This record gives sequence, structure tokens and C-alpha cells, in this order.
Amino acid sequence: MSYKNQIQQDRIPRHVAIIMDGNGRWAKRQGLARMFGHRQGVETVHTITEAAAELGIEYLTLYAFSTENWNRPKEEVDALMSLLVDTIAKETPTLMKNNIRLSTIGDLSRLPNNAQQKFRACMQETSANTGLNLVLALSYSARWEIIRAAQEIASAIQKGDLLVEDVNEEVVSAHMTTAHMPDPDLLIRTSGELRISNFLLWQLAYSELYFTDCLWPEFTAEEFYRAIVDYQRRERRFGKTSEQIR
Ligand code: IPE
Ligand code: IPE
Ligand code: MG
Repeated sequence: MSYKNQIQQDRIPRHVAIIMDGNGRWAKRQGLARMFGHRQGVETVHTITEAAAELGIEYLTLYAFSTENWNRPKEEVDALMSLLVDTIAKETPTLMKNNIRLSTIGDLSRLPNNAQQKFRACMQETSANTGLNLVLALSYSARWEIIRAAQEIASAIQKGDLLVEDVNEEVVSAHMTTAHMPDPDLLIRTSGELRISNFLLWQLAYSELYFTDCLWPEFTAEEFYRAIVDYQRRERRFGKTSEQIR
């Protein structure tokens, strides 16, 4: 039986976050340059985004480019930036067709101007869509985000707009780039690496983690459904006892 048929419609995660990893290794395995892996990875983004929209997931956050990825060889960074620009132009009609709203988290000001413009245009065009919220983490790292939040909070206190004793979880969450989103219910990482790589450190506090050896370019809708089914079999206790949950 396919995993899709095993999904319980009343327990769909509201927010799924994915560390899309393994593009380079996938390409290398075929004897190709790393960029072929990134190109194939875009196909997977298309497939998984459509699958998530169809399932009724509210938020899909994809880690596309980390702060640390700026340290890759210039040729790869440049090629990735052009791939982003091409993809956003090509995929906007798909987003419209599937009622998907695009947003980004991360330091967008570090992206080349044409990429920033393409993203702004796409966010504008899709802003009234009411289906899946597709969130691309670009030039993102959780420590960058936490530092930024700390600076904003400190500055609000300095101005007298906030009291030190009023700083609580809600206030901190409101200063994260994910302010209007629920925390991820499920985090998926492909390619067999067992680490978080500076992704959503604050927000993942109680997320269910799912790791698969599948490389991102070969990750299919069925593999995605498998992760959802696995998630639905877990008991989320949030520190309570099993008896309290049932
Ligand atoms: C993930 O694939 C995509 C990005 C980080 C941009 P990688 O490029 O990290 O592929 P591997 O991990 O080297 O195989
Ligand atoms: C994490 O993958 C970042 C993205 C998927 C965008 P990396 O390939 O950059 O992470 P490390 O270096 O293996 O931790
Ligand atoms: Mg990698």
C-alpha cells in the first residue's frame, strides 16, 4: 500500500520544514558537475511543494541557502544565484495555479539585486493566495536570526517600549523571522546527515525530526508521504506523560 493512502487527514502537520541536502553528492554519483544536482533539486522542490499543497499543509519551509553557504567556491555561489533567478521566474505560474503564497526568511539584502527583485515581484504576485505558504530560507542561519532578535529586543528596551521583565517566549518568537508562523511540527533532512546546520534553532525546540538517506534530487512525493506517516505514528508529549496526552 502506498504511503499516501496511510496518511490520516485529521493529523496533517501544520508546518513542515526541510533541509534539502545531497545535491552535490547526487551529481557526483552520476559523474556530473555539482550544478546538475542543484538543477535536479529544483525539480524535487516543484514535486514536494505540489504534494504539500495537495495535502493541505499550511507552511512548508525549505532551507535553500545558508549563511555558511556563502563560503562555497564563487562559481558555485554564482551558479546557484542564477538558478534561483531562473527558477523563480519559471515557477511563479505554478505557484499561482496551486494558490501558493511565497515568502522568504534570511538576509535577502546579501542576494544579488536581480534575485532580490525577482523574489519581491513573486511575493507580491502571490500575496493574495490563500493555500500553502511556501517559505524559502535564503542566506539564512538561525544564529543570524537570534542575534537580530536580541538586537531588536534590546533596542525596544532601550527606547522604553518594552520592560525587561516582559521579555517572554511570545516576545522572542515575535522577533524571529518566522513571527507569523507556527513552529515546525516536522523537520525532514535528506542525504543521511544527522545535524541541524544552523536551521531554525529556536523554532525546532519541540519539532519531530525525520532523517532519510535519500539525496534531495531523488526524494519523491512518496518519500515525503512516508515521512508524514512516520510523524503521525509518534506521540508528541511536550514534557507530559503518555497518560496525560491520551
Ligand atoms: C544542498 O545540497 C543544497 C545547498 C546547500 C545549496 P549540497 O550542495 O549541500 O549537496 P552535498 O551535501 O554537497 O551533496
Ligand atoms: C544545509 O546544507 C544548508 C542547506 C540545505 C541550504 P549544507 O550542505 O550546507 O550543510 P552541512 O555543511 O553539511 O552542515
Ligand atoms: Mg550538503
